[in-house]
Amino acid sequence: MTGTVQPPTTATPGVGPLSLQSQFRGPLSSQLVTLRRALHQHPELSGLEIETARRLATALTDVAGLRPADVRCIGTAVIGRIPGRRSGGPVVAVRGDIDALPIQEATGLPYASEVAGVMHACGHDVHATWAIGAAALLIAAPAAGDVLIVLQPAEEIDRGAAAVLDSGVLDGVAAIFGAHVDRRFTVGQVVADDGPLAASADTFLIELVGRGAHAARPQESADPIVGAGALIGALQSIVARRLHPATPGVVTIGTIHAGTANNIIPDRAILTGTLRTVDPATRRLLRDEVERIATATAAAYRLEAKVTMELGPPPIVNPPGPTAWAREAVRTTLGDHALVPLGIVNLAAEDFARYMERIPGCFLRVGAREPDGVPIAAHSPHFAAAEDSIFVGAAVLAESARVASEALAARG
Ligand code: NI
Repeated sequence: MTGTVQPPTTATPGVGPLSLQSQFRGPLSSQLVTLRRALHQHPELSGLEIETARRLATALTDVAGLRPADVRCIGTAVIGRIPGRRSGGPVVAVRGDIDALPIQEATGLPYASEVAGVMHACGHDVHATWAIGAAALLIAAPAAGDVLIVLQPAEEIDRGAAAVLDSGVLDGVAAIFGAHVDRRFTVGQVVADDGPLAASADTFLIELVGRGAHAARPQESADPIVGAGALIGALQSIVARRLHPATPGVVTIGTIHAGTANNIIPDRAILTGTLRTVDPATRRLLRDEVERIATATAAAYRLEAKVTMELGPPPIVNPPGPTAWAREAVRTTLGDHALVPLGIVNLAAEDFARYMERIPGCFLRVGAREPDGVPIAAHSPHFAAAEDSIFVGAAVLAESARVASEALAARG
Protein backbone atom coordinates (compact mmCIF):
# COMPACT_ATOMS: atom_id res chain seq x y z
CA MET A 1 0.00 0.00 0.00
CA THR A 2 3.07 2.21 -0.16
CA GLY A 3 2.40 5.37 -2.08
CA THR A 4 -1.33 5.44 -1.42
CA VAL A 5 -0.85 8.35 0.99
CA GLN A 6 -0.49 11.39 -1.20
CA PRO A 7 1.75 14.12 0.17
CA PRO A 8 -0.32 17.27 0.46
CA THR A 9 0.43 19.91 -2.12
CA THR A 10 -0.88 22.84 -0.14
CA ALA A 11 -0.49 24.20 3.36
CA THR A 12 -3.96 25.71 3.30
CA PRO A 13 -6.74 23.75 4.95
CA GLY A 14 -8.99 22.47 2.22
CA VAL A 15 -11.89 21.21 4.27
CA GLY A 16 -14.88 22.47 6.12
CA PRO A 17 -16.98 25.59 5.81
CA LEU A 18 -15.51 29.08 5.73
CA SER A 19 -15.75 29.31 9.52
CA LEU A 20 -13.05 26.65 9.80
CA GLN A 21 -10.81 28.01 7.04
CA SER A 22 -11.01 31.58 8.27
CA GLN A 23 -9.57 30.55 11.63
CA PHE A 24 -6.23 29.62 10.06
CA ARG A 25 -5.48 32.78 8.11
CA GLY A 26 -2.00 34.22 7.91
CA PRO A 27 1.09 32.17 8.69
CA LEU A 28 -0.63 29.89 11.23
CA SER A 29 -1.65 27.14 8.80
CA SER A 30 1.80 26.83 7.22
CA GLN A 31 3.48 26.98 10.64
CA LEU A 32 1.32 24.09 11.82
CA VAL A 33 2.08 22.03 8.72
CA THR A 34 5.81 22.72 9.16
CA LEU A 35 5.59 21.68 12.82
CA ARG A 36 3.74 18.47 11.99
CA ARG A 37 6.28 17.49 9.35
CA ALA A 38 9.18 18.21 11.72
CA LEU A 39 7.57 16.07 14.43
CA HIS A 40 6.95 13.30 11.90
CA GLN A 41 10.54 13.43 10.69
CA HIS A 42 11.96 13.25 14.22
CA PRO A 43 9.83 10.74 16.14
CA GLU A 44 10.76 9.73 19.68
CA LEU A 45 9.65 6.66 21.61
CA SER A 46 7.42 6.74 24.69
CA GLY A 47 9.12 8.37 27.66
CA LEU A 48 12.02 9.62 25.53
CA GLU A 49 10.27 12.61 23.91
CA ILE A 50 12.99 15.11 24.86
CA GLU A 51 13.41 16.95 21.55
CA THR A 52 9.70 16.63 20.84
CA ALA A 53 8.86 18.32 24.15
CA ARG A 54 11.42 21.05 23.47
CA ARG A 55 9.97 21.64 20.01
CA LEU A 56 6.41 21.78 21.36
CA ALA A 57 7.28 24.11 24.23
CA THR A 58 8.82 26.47 21.66
CA ALA A 59 5.76 26.12 19.41
CA LEU A 60 3.44 27.08 22.28
CA THR A 61 5.19 30.45 22.52
CA ASP A 62 6.36 31.06 18.94
CA VAL A 63 3.44 29.60 16.95
CA ALA A 64 0.50 29.76 19.37
CA GLY A 65 1.58 32.95 21.14
CA LEU A 66 1.60 31.90 24.80
CA ARG A 67 3.71 33.87 27.28
CA PRO A 68 6.81 31.87 28.30
CA ALA A 69 5.64 32.10 31.93
CA ASP A 70 2.50 30.15 30.93
CA VAL A 71 4.46 27.15 29.59
CA ARG A 72 5.61 24.46 31.98
CA CYS A 73 7.50 21.20 31.41
CA ILE A 74 6.97 18.19 33.67
CA GLY A 75 9.34 15.46 32.54
CA THR A 76 8.62 15.22 28.81
CA ALA A 77 5.09 16.58 29.25
CA VAL A 78 4.49 20.20 28.26
CA ILE A 79 1.60 22.15 29.75
CA GLY A 80 0.47 25.52 28.45
CA ARG A 81 -2.02 27.74 30.26
CA ILE A 82 -4.16 30.06 28.15
CA PRO A 83 -5.78 32.77 30.25
CA GLY A 84 -9.55 32.96 30.01
CA ARG A 85 -11.58 36.14 29.75
CA ARG A 86 -11.90 36.29 33.49
CA SER A 87 -9.74 34.85 36.24
CA GLY A 88 -11.33 32.36 38.58
CA GLY A 89 -13.44 30.85 35.81
CA PRO A 90 -13.71 27.09 35.24
CA VAL A 91 -10.50 25.48 33.99
CA VAL A 92 -10.82 23.17 31.00
CA ALA A 93 -8.08 21.06 29.36
CA VAL A 94 -7.24 19.96 25.80
CA ARG A 95 -4.86 17.02 25.46
CA GLY A 96 -2.65 15.94 22.56
CA ASP A 97 -0.32 12.94 22.90
CA ILE A 98 3.18 13.17 21.44
CA ASP A 99 5.00 9.80 21.43
CA ALA A 100 5.95 7.54 18.49
CA LEU A 101 6.19 3.77 17.94
CA PRO A 102 9.02 1.27 17.31
CA ILE A 103 8.10 0.74 13.64
CA GLN A 104 10.19 1.23 10.47
CA GLU A 105 8.29 3.74 8.35
CA ALA A 106 7.25 2.69 4.84
CA THR A 107 5.03 5.58 3.71
CA GLY A 108 7.48 7.05 1.21
CA LEU A 109 6.42 10.54 2.33
CA PRO A 110 8.87 13.38 1.69
CA TYR A 111 8.86 14.06 5.44
CA ALA A 112 9.13 10.39 6.48
CA SER A 113 10.90 9.49 9.72
CA GLU A 114 14.64 10.07 9.75
CA VAL A 115 15.01 7.79 12.77
CA ALA A 116 15.56 4.14 11.90
CA GLY A 117 12.94 1.88 13.44
CA VAL A 118 10.89 4.71 14.97
CA MET A 119 7.79 6.22 13.43
CA HIS A 120 4.71 8.30 14.12
CA ALA A 121 2.47 5.42 13.06
CA CYS A 122 -0.41 6.41 15.35
CA GLY A 123 -0.79 10.04 14.29
CA HIS A 124 0.47 11.58 17.52
CA ASP A 125 2.49 14.03 15.37
CA VAL A 126 -0.86 15.40 14.24
CA HIS A 127 -2.37 15.27 17.76
CA ALA A 128 0.53 17.34 19.12
CA THR A 129 0.20 19.79 16.23
CA TRP A 130 -3.53 20.26 16.54
CA ALA A 131 -3.10 20.94 20.26
CA ILE A 132 -0.73 23.79 19.32
CA GLY A 133 -3.32 24.95 16.76
CA ALA A 134 -6.05 24.84 19.41
CA ALA A 135 -3.82 26.95 21.68
CA ALA A 136 -3.46 29.57 18.93
CA LEU A 137 -7.23 29.68 18.39
CA LEU A 138 -7.91 29.99 22.14
CA ILE A 139 -5.44 32.88 22.42
CA ALA A 140 -7.23 34.62 19.54
CA ALA A 141 -10.68 33.99 21.04
CA PRO A 142 -10.33 33.04 24.73
CA ALA A 143 -12.73 30.84 26.63
CA ALA A 144 -14.56 32.02 29.75
CA GLY A 145 -11.95 30.44 32.02
CA ASP A 146 -8.37 29.29 31.57
CA VAL A 147 -7.64 26.41 29.19
CA LEU A 148 -4.72 24.03 29.77
CA ILE A 149 -3.03 22.56 26.70
CA VAL A 150 -1.64 19.17 27.75
CA LEU A 151 1.05 17.77 25.46
CA GLN A 152 1.29 14.30 26.89
CA PRO A 153 4.12 11.79 26.46
CA ALA A 154 4.09 7.99 26.73
CA GLU A 155 0.51 7.28 25.62
CA GLU A 156 1.54 4.06 23.88
CA ILE A 157 2.83 2.54 27.11
CA ASP A 158 -0.03 3.82 29.28
CA ARG A 159 2.28 5.89 31.49
CA GLY A 160 1.85 9.45 30.26
CA ALA A 161 -1.68 10.29 31.40
CA ALA A 162 -1.04 8.78 34.82
CA ALA A 163 2.17 10.84 35.18
CA VAL A 164 0.39 14.06 34.20
CA LEU A 165 -2.39 13.32 36.71
CA ASP A 166 0.11 12.45 39.45
CA SER A 167 1.90 15.79 38.94
CA GLY A 168 -1.25 17.54 40.17
CA VAL A 169 -1.22 19.97 37.24
CA LEU A 170 -4.80 18.98 36.34
CA ASP A 171 -6.17 19.31 39.88
CA GLY A 172 -9.36 21.35 39.71
CA VAL A 173 -9.81 20.91 35.95
CA ALA A 174 -13.55 20.72 35.25
CA ALA A 175 -13.55 19.13 31.79
CA ILE A 176 -11.04 17.59 29.39
CA PHE A 177 -11.14 16.92 25.64
CA GLY A 178 -8.94 14.85 23.36
CA ALA A 179 -9.12 13.17 19.98
CA HIS A 180 -7.50 10.60 17.72
CA VAL A 181 -6.98 10.64 13.97
CA ASP A 182 -8.80 7.87 12.13
CA ARG A 183 -8.37 6.96 8.47
CA ARG A 184 -11.68 5.08 8.39
CA PHE A 185 -13.21 8.55 8.14
CA THR A 186 -12.44 11.28 5.62
CA VAL A 187 -11.09 14.66 6.64
CA GLY A 188 -14.00 16.77 7.85
CA GLN A 189 -15.86 13.87 9.48
CA VAL A 190 -15.79 13.69 13.28
CA VAL A 191 -17.05 11.00 15.66
CA ALA A 192 -18.35 12.41 18.93
CA ASP A 193 -20.64 9.61 20.12
CA ASP A 194 -21.62 9.15 23.72
CA GLY A 195 -21.02 5.66 25.07
CA PRO A 196 -18.04 3.32 24.53
CA LEU A 197 -15.31 4.69 22.29
CA ALA A 198 -12.22 2.69 23.32
CA ALA A 199 -11.62 -0.49 25.27
CA SER A 200 -9.94 -1.43 28.49
CA ALA A 201 -6.60 -3.19 27.95
CA ASP A 202 -5.46 -5.45 30.78
CA THR A 203 -2.47 -7.71 30.25
CA PHE A 204 -1.72 -11.14 31.66
CA LEU A 205 1.30 -13.37 32.03
CA ILE A 206 0.81 -17.07 32.70
CA GLU A 207 3.78 -19.16 33.78
CA LEU A 208 3.11 -22.89 33.53
CA VAL A 209 5.55 -24.71 35.77
CA GLY A 210 6.03 -28.45 35.24
CA ARG A 211 8.89 -30.91 35.34
CA GLY A 212 11.51 -31.14 32.62
CA ALA A 213 12.75 -34.46 31.25
CA HIS A 214 14.39 -36.13 28.26
CA ALA A 215 12.11 -35.82 25.23
CA ALA A 216 12.20 -39.61 24.83
CA ARG A 217 10.96 -40.22 28.41
CA PRO A 218 7.79 -38.07 28.61
CA GLN A 219 6.41 -40.25 31.42
CA GLU A 220 9.00 -38.66 33.71
CA SER A 221 7.88 -35.13 32.83
CA ALA A 222 5.07 -32.76 33.55
CA ASP A 223 5.14 -31.19 30.09
CA PRO A 224 4.29 -27.45 30.08
CA ILE A 225 4.22 -27.32 26.26
CA VAL A 226 1.37 -29.83 26.02
CA GLY A 227 -0.36 -27.97 28.86
CA ALA A 228 0.15 -24.64 27.07
CA GLY A 229 -1.41 -26.10 23.92
CA ALA A 230 -4.52 -27.08 25.85
CA LEU A 231 -4.61 -23.76 27.66
CA ILE A 232 -4.53 -21.71 24.44
CA GLY A 233 -7.67 -23.43 23.19
CA ALA A 234 -9.39 -23.31 26.56
CA LEU A 235 -8.82 -19.55 26.94
CA GLN A 236 -10.61 -18.91 23.63
CA SER A 237 -13.73 -20.50 25.13
CA ILE A 238 -14.10 -17.43 27.38
CA VAL A 239 -15.23 -15.22 24.51
CA ALA A 240 -16.89 -18.07 22.60
CA ARG A 241 -18.82 -19.59 25.54
CA ARG A 242 -18.83 -17.28 28.57
CA LEU A 243 -19.71 -13.91 27.00
CA HIS A 244 -23.09 -12.98 25.61
CA PRO A 245 -22.57 -12.99 21.83
CA ALA A 246 -23.46 -9.28 21.68
CA THR A 247 -20.94 -8.29 24.35
CA PRO A 248 -17.61 -7.11 22.96
CA GLY A 249 -14.56 -8.89 24.34
CA VAL A 250 -11.14 -10.07 23.20
CA VAL A 251 -8.74 -12.59 24.71
CA THR A 252 -5.53 -12.60 22.69
CA ILE A 253 -2.38 -14.54 23.49
CA GLY A 254 0.43 -12.50 22.00
CA THR A 255 3.53 -14.44 23.02
CA ILE A 256 4.41 -17.97 24.02
CA HIS A 257 7.89 -19.08 24.99
CA ALA A 258 9.12 -22.50 26.04
CA GLY A 259 11.94 -24.88 25.44
CA THR A 260 15.52 -24.83 24.20
CA ALA A 261 15.96 -27.93 22.02
CA ASN A 262 13.90 -30.55 20.16
CA ASN A 263 14.99 -33.37 22.46
CA ILE A 264 14.26 -31.72 25.80
CA ILE A 265 10.94 -31.33 27.59
CA PRO A 266 11.31 -27.97 29.35
CA ASP A 267 10.16 -27.30 32.90
CA ARG A 268 8.15 -24.17 32.14
CA ALA A 269 6.24 -22.26 29.48
CA ILE A 270 5.32 -18.57 29.56
CA LEU A 271 2.34 -17.04 27.76
CA THR A 272 1.40 -13.37 27.66
CA GLY A 273 -1.70 -11.71 26.29
CA THR A 274 -4.20 -8.89 26.41
CA LEU A 275 -7.85 -8.60 27.46
CA ARG A 276 -10.13 -6.02 25.83
CA THR A 277 -13.66 -5.01 26.67
CA VAL A 278 -15.80 -1.90 27.09
CA ASP A 279 -17.65 -2.46 30.37
CA PRO A 280 -16.48 -3.05 33.96
CA ALA A 281 -18.44 -6.29 34.55
CA THR A 282 -17.04 -7.99 31.45
CA ARG A 283 -13.60 -6.69 32.32
CA ARG A 284 -13.77 -8.46 35.70
CA LEU A 285 -15.21 -11.60 34.11
CA LEU A 286 -12.36 -11.88 31.56
CA ARG A 287 -9.72 -11.56 34.28
CA ASP A 288 -11.45 -14.05 36.59
CA GLU A 289 -11.94 -16.59 33.79
CA VAL A 290 -8.32 -16.41 32.62
CA GLU A 291 -7.20 -17.13 36.18
CA ARG A 292 -9.73 -19.91 36.70
CA ILE A 293 -9.07 -21.66 33.38
CA ALA A 294 -5.29 -21.32 33.67
CA THR A 295 -5.33 -22.82 37.17
CA ALA A 296 -7.72 -25.64 36.26
CA THR A 297 -6.02 -26.53 32.97
CA ALA A 298 -2.62 -26.53 34.65
CA ALA A 299 -3.93 -28.91 37.31
CA ALA A 300 -5.32 -31.25 34.64
CA TYR A 301 -1.82 -31.51 33.15
CA ARG A 302 -0.03 -31.80 36.51
CA LEU A 303 1.37 -28.29 36.15
CA GLU A 304 1.20 -25.19 38.31
CA ALA A 305 -0.09 -21.93 36.81
CA LYS A 306 1.25 -18.63 38.13
CA VAL A 307 -0.99 -15.90 36.74
CA THR A 308 0.00 -12.24 36.86
CA MET A 309 -2.53 -9.59 35.82
CA GLU A 310 -1.62 -6.00 35.09
CA LEU A 311 -4.47 -3.53 34.92
CA GLY A 312 -4.22 -1.23 31.91
CA PRO A 313 -6.40 1.73 31.03
CA PRO A 314 -10.13 1.37 31.62
CA PRO A 315 -12.52 1.74 28.68
CA ILE A 316 -13.41 5.19 27.42
CA VAL A 317 -17.14 5.69 27.77
CA ASN A 318 -18.08 9.22 26.72
CA PRO A 319 -20.65 10.68 29.14
CA PRO A 320 -23.67 12.53 27.70
CA GLY A 321 -22.91 16.03 29.11
CA PRO A 322 -19.37 16.65 27.82
CA THR A 323 -20.26 14.77 24.62
CA ALA A 324 -23.07 17.24 23.98
CA TRP A 325 -20.52 20.09 24.30
CA ALA A 326 -18.17 18.40 21.83
CA ARG A 327 -21.01 17.76 19.37
CA GLU A 328 -22.03 21.40 19.56
CA ALA A 329 -18.41 22.34 18.84
CA VAL A 330 -18.33 20.08 15.76
CA ARG A 331 -21.56 21.60 14.44
CA THR A 332 -20.27 25.14 14.99
CA THR A 333 -16.92 24.59 13.31
CA LEU A 334 -17.84 22.12 10.54
CA GLY A 335 -21.61 21.93 10.24
CA ASP A 336 -24.17 19.24 11.07
CA HIS A 337 -23.03 16.92 8.28
CA ALA A 338 -19.59 16.51 9.90
CA LEU A 339 -20.88 14.39 12.79
CA VAL A 340 -20.73 10.70 11.91
CA PRO A 341 -21.29 7.63 14.12
CA LEU A 342 -18.36 5.39 15.02
CA GLY A 343 -20.33 2.47 13.60
CA ILE A 344 -18.10 -0.21 15.11
CA VAL A 345 -16.97 -1.34 18.53
CA ASN A 346 -13.41 -0.09 18.95
CA LEU A 347 -11.38 -2.51 21.06
CA ALA A 348 -8.15 -0.55 20.88
CA ALA A 349 -7.23 1.22 24.12
CA GLU A 350 -6.28 4.83 24.81
CA ASP A 351 -4.74 6.19 28.00
CA PHE A 352 -7.01 9.27 27.79
CA ALA A 353 -9.30 6.96 29.78
CA ARG A 354 -7.07 7.68 32.82
CA TYR A 355 -8.14 11.34 32.75
CA MET A 356 -11.78 10.40 32.39
CA GLU A 357 -11.62 8.33 35.57
CA ARG A 358 -11.21 11.64 37.40
CA ILE A 359 -12.35 14.43 35.06
CA PRO A 360 -15.54 14.63 32.99
CA GLY A 361 -14.61 14.71 29.32
CA CYS A 362 -15.10 13.54 25.79
CA PHE A 363 -12.79 11.74 23.37
CA LEU A 364 -13.39 12.18 19.66
CA ARG A 365 -12.20 10.53 16.49
CA VAL A 366 -11.21 12.90 13.71
CA GLY A 367 -11.34 11.78 10.09
CA ALA A 368 -7.83 11.64 8.58
CA ARG A 369 -8.26 10.05 5.15
CA GLU A 370 -7.80 12.13 2.01
CA PRO A 371 -10.98 12.25 -0.16
CA ASP A 372 -9.30 9.85 -2.61
CA GLY A 373 -7.27 7.98 0.05
CA VAL A 374 -7.65 4.50 1.49
CA PRO A 375 -8.28 3.41 5.08
CA ILE A 376 -4.98 2.42 6.71
CA ALA A 377 -4.89 1.12 10.26
CA ALA A 378 -2.87 2.98 12.87
CA HIS A 379 0.33 1.17 13.90
CA SER A 380 0.90 0.19 10.26
CA PRO A 381 4.24 1.21 8.67
CA HIS A 382 2.11 2.82 5.91
CA PHE A 383 0.04 4.99 8.25
CA ALA A 384 0.02 8.77 8.00
CA ALA A 385 -2.84 11.10 8.84
CA ALA A 386 -3.99 13.52 6.14
CA GLU A 387 -2.47 16.92 6.82
CA ASP A 388 -5.78 18.79 6.76
CA SER A 389 -6.93 16.80 9.79
CA ILE A 390 -4.66 19.15 11.82
CA PHE A 391 -7.08 22.02 11.27
CA VAL A 392 -10.18 19.99 12.03
CA GLY A 393 -8.71 18.71 15.30
CA ALA A 394 -7.44 22.14 16.33
CA ALA A 395 -10.73 23.91 15.63
CA VAL A 396 -12.98 21.23 17.14
CA LEU A 397 -10.92 20.85 20.32
CA ALA A 398 -10.57 24.62 20.81
CA GLU A 399 -14.31 25.06 20.33
CA SER A 400 -15.10 22.11 22.63
CA ALA A 401 -13.06 23.81 25.33
CA ARG A 402 -14.88 27.11 24.72
CA VAL A 403 -18.35 25.54 24.80
CA ALA A 404 -17.54 23.62 27.98
CA SER A 405 -16.02 26.69 29.59
CA GLU A 406 -19.07 28.85 28.81
CA ALA A 407 -21.47 26.18 30.07
CA LEU A 408 -19.51 25.62 33.28
CA ALA A 409 -19.13 29.38 33.88
CA ALA A 410 -22.87 29.86 33.41
CA ARG A 411 -23.47 27.19 36.06
CA GLY A 412 -21.31 29.26 38.42
NI1 NI B 1 -2.66 6.66 19.20
